[in-house]
Amino acid sequence: MTARRGLALAALTALAGCGGTQSTLDPGGPYAREIAMLSWGMFAGAGVITLIVGVLLAWAVWGRASKPAWLSDTRIILGGGLILPSVVLAALLIPTLAMGLRQSGDGEADLRIRVTGEQWWWRVQYVDANGATIETANEIRIPVGATVAFELHTADVIHSFWVPALAGKLDMMPGQTNVLRIRADTPGTYRGQCAEFCGGAHAMMAMHVVVQTPEDFTAWLAAQRAPARDAEAAARGRAVFFAAGCGACHMVRGTPAQGRLGPDLTHVGGRGFIAGGTLATTRENLKHWITDSQQIKPDNRMPEFGVFGDDDIGALAAWLESLT
Ligand code: CUA
Repeated sequence: MTARRGLALAALTALAGCGGTQSTLDPGGPYAREIAMLSWGMFAGAGVITLIVGVLLAWAVWGRASKPAWLSDTRIILGGGLILPSVVLAALLIPTLAMGLRQSGDGEADLRIRVTGEQWWWRVQYVDANGATIETANEIRIPVGATVAFELHTADVIHSFWVPALAGKLDMMPGQTNVLRIRADTPGTYRGQCAEFCGGAHAMMAMHVVVQTPEDFTAWLAAQRAPARDAEAAARGRAVFFAAGCGACHMVRGTPAQGRLGPDLTHVGGRGFIAGGTLATTRENLKHWITDSQQIKPDNRMPEFGVFGDDDIGALAAWLESLT
């Protein structure tokens, strides 16, 4: 009974990886579907080959001592051991390479988004029709059905951009621009994760791709272009922000905060998550992040600010939350 329960639990744990917002087996767009189909094809082919090899092995070990002469013929050994694997691997390599080139090639796209991997978050930039750059962080919004070219960069070490349900994985290399094409079929939120070890907080370098209707996306982008809506009601939090020097690292457009080191906070309250896609944007989490960021995400570049009194930290979190 215990063994059966353990087996059920193990199966449940393994199968839990097959669905949800971050699974290659639950594709949300044509490029991801192509990858999933190829993976299933490879899995089926590998299954058949494993079965045949297993049967032959069992026959060799447990079969009768006298075996047909063809089984030990040089031709079958060369054919089955050298030629067949070469043919199978070459046949798999060609469609895989072709697919990689199609999905990562720079070409026509409905929208271009520049994403820069930084230790340990994602800088996201949209260039609008007038050539102006709109910057945000860790949450990438795209319109449904559009082919989006992601121009991938890094500000420091090698990172890897991977949103498993939408596309393949592509590294962000120093001094280089790699282009990954993504298209999503249905609105929703898809989680992504840095897939190359990039130092201390690598495991907490996540992001979310939010797929919206074209109308919602256009409205969102227009709102992002605007400077911060600096609510008068949250003036105390604003004062705390500037007194503590937060503006040295963070940008809040429309205010004197012009820092470029950390994420742009102009519309931080409107994002689903903070801290590199790892904490939901709630007032409590904002407070917690500011005072205990090294406990939450060890090694990240944000120092802990334990100096605030309860009223000040509450006001600061309220101001940030109001920046939608
Ligand atoms: Cu960035 Cu791992």
